[in-house]
Parts: sequence; structure tokens; C-alpha cells
Amino acid sequence: MKSKKYKNSILQIETILLEENDNYAALANVSAILHMAFSFWWTGFYLVKNENEENTLVIAPFQGPDACSRIKFGKGVCGTAWKTKKSIIIKNVHEIENHISCSEFSNSEIVVPIISNGNVKGVLDIDSKLFSNFDETDKKYLEKVCNLISKKYWP
Ligand code: SME
Repeated sequence: MKSKKYKNSILQIETILLEENDNYAALANVSAILHMAFSFWWTGFYLVKNENEENTLVIAPFQGPDACSRIKFGKGVCGTAWKTKKSIIIKNVHEIENHISCSEFSNSEIVVPIISNGNVKGVLDIDSKLFSNFDETDKKYLEKVCNLISKKYWP
């Protein structure tokens, strides 16, 4: 059920990546596709940018309520996924200390890094109103999405 939805979404995403050379335009549509298919609470990207000689995650295309615009290395779940270069699934965001709360309605979360040649270029962050909404199936397909994005925009 979940897998089928991901497979369909990935087909749509592949078409977008094929046709769109502007990464922001593509990421806007990728976040919309995932957000609408799964009725997530917040679906979007943070990209690593160099600001004042420091790398920071800066908010990029997303769907959902407004969220914090900058996240430092190692901070929150996004900053931790950046630091560890690993996907992170949080079943209950209220149970972890290193979580940046952008919305009181978010209860579980998955963050997947976009990695190119060993460097993190950004993260895909998805929040759900449901507890324990993310598992290994989400991780597998969202890593595939981030892989496709990385290959296209950071080859
Ligand atoms: N929850 C994230 C912050 C981003 S918002 O959820 C959109 C975190 O702790 O990294």
C-alpha cells in the first residue's frame, strides 16, 4: 500500500527530474508530490548554504506551515542527519531533546540527507501529525528520491 504510493510518486518525480534543470523548481514539485500523496503535515527541503563563512541548512521548497529558516550543523534532527550523513526516523518528536519544534502538531518525523560524493548537500524533512508514521519502507523510498535528486543536481 505504502510501497505502491511511493512507486507511483517516484515515477512522477523521475519525469520532473528529467524535464527540469532548475533544482528549486524541481524540489518544489517533489515536495508537492510527496505531500499530497501521503497527506503529510510538513514536507520539504533544507539545503546547505555558505553564509558568513559558515555552512548552514537554509529552508528551500516545502509544503505545509511556515518553519524555521535556518538550522545549524548538528542541531535538531535535520542538523543531526547532516552531521551523521544518515537518515533518521523519530517515532515521537516530543521524546527527544535535540528536536527543533516548528509546529506543535508534528508528532513524528523522518529526515533523509541528500549526499553527493560523500558531502551532504541538503536534507529532505517530513513531519507527520501521526505518531510512529515512518518506518523502513519510508526510509527506503525517500532515500531513493534523495539519490535521484543528488544524481541530477549534484552529479
Ligand atoms: N524538526 C526539525 C526542524 C524542521 S521542522 O520540523 C520543518 C528538526 O528538528 O530538525
